[in-house]
Amino acid sequence: MSRLSNIHVLVLAFAIAMSPSLCFPSTKGEVFPVFTKWHVYVVNGVGNQESLFVHCKSKDNDLGIQNLSPGTNTTWGFRTNFFHSTLFWCYLRKSSAQHAALKVFWQDIYLFEKCNWKNCIWIAKDDGIYIKDFANVRDEFSKKWEEGWIKTQDSYRSL
Ligand SMILES: *[C@@H]1O[C@H](CO)[C@@H](O)[C@H](O)[C@H]1NC(C)=O
Repeated sequence: MSRLSNIHVLVLAFAIAMSPSLCFPSTKGEVFPVFTKWHVYVVNGVGNQESLFVHCKSKDNDLGIQNLSPGTNTTWGFRTNFFHSTLFWCYLRKSSAQHAALKVFWQDIYLFEKCNWKNCIWIAKDDGIYIKDFANVRDEFSKKWEEGWIKTQDSYRSL
């Protein structure tokens, strides 16, 4: 082995030893493995038979544009990455020209508990976006709609 690759191995071993991402204890005393499979759902729970425009992305993936009819949802699954940087965000727009941009997955124990360490369920309703809180068995208000239409790209800048 060259001197350089020895150093690489040492650095990697050190990173693994120091990484809190391998085991992440939840308040339930369980150990959270880093490669857990997560699912995010975006649900059209808006009244008035309105459709919901949804465009979700991560740094590496554009999940494309969807138009959800009332009561339907879109979902995707992924594994969290080693370096704790997995992040997804969505731009949502009601047909009545109100929109919101929000993060729908980030690596944080606050979110993990809401999602019951598995499913993050975001529900668009008439007054804003809610997240299903599994711990309290209710939908928790998260973000208000903003008035008017703006371009998807512009809305992401504020996140
Ligand atoms: C999403 O839609 C599927 C298919 O209609 C349904 O079975 C599932 O319960 C829905 N999930 C949520 C979280 O609304």
